[in-house]
Amino acid sequence: MSRNLIARMQHFSVEVSDTDRSIAFYRHVLGFRLTERHAAHEVAAIPVELTFLRLGDTHHELVLVHNPAKTYRPRPTRPEDDLDGPPSFHHFALECDSEANWRAVLERVRATDTPIVRGPVVHSASHPRGDGSWGENEAVYILDPDGHRIEIFWGLATIDPDGVHRDAAGRRVPGTATAEL
Ligand SMILES: [Fe+2]
Repeated sequence: MSRNLIARMQHFSVEVSDTDRSIAFYRHVLGFRLTERHAAHEVAAIPVELTFLRLGDTHHELVLVHNPAKTYRPRPTRPEDDLDGPPSFHHFALECDSEANWRAVLERVRATDTPIVRGPVVHSASHPRGDGSWGENEAVYILDPDGHRIEIFWGLATIDPDGVHRDAAGRRVPGTATAEL
C-alpha cells in the first residue's frame, strides 16, 4: 500500500445504551457539540439511532450508536477483565493541544465525579515521572456512562526522520527507536 493515500484517522463510533445520557456526558464533561441526531430507521438502511458530535468544525469526530432492538449488559470497568466475548475495543483517545488545556479538562473530570480508572500518568521510560511505557504523553483514563475507556492526553512524541522520538518539549528521547520509518 502506498503511503499517505489515507490522510489520517478521524472519527470514532461507540455503541451506547442510553443516547440522552451519553450526549449529556460528552457535551458537559468533555465539551463536544451536537451536530445532529437521528432516529433508528429514519433512513431505510440504518436500523440504529445515530448521533454525531464534534469538537471542531468538521461534521463529526464521535458517533454514538444505539440499537433499540438490543439488550445491553454492562461492560467491566477494566477492558482486561472482559474475558469472554468477541474482540472489542480497549480505549480511544482525545488529545489536548497544551498541558494547560489538559489540566483544565482534568479539573472538569474531577468536578463532575467522572470515574478515573488510570492516572494521571506520564507514558515514558525516561521522564522523571514516567511509568516505563511509551509515547511520552501525559494521560488520564476515564469511563463514559457505558464504561467505555477514554484516554485524555497531551504531548505525544513525534518521530524524527532517523526514528528517534521527540517529546513535547523538543527533547530527543534517549533509547527510543521506531520499527518502521
Ligand atoms: Fe492510548
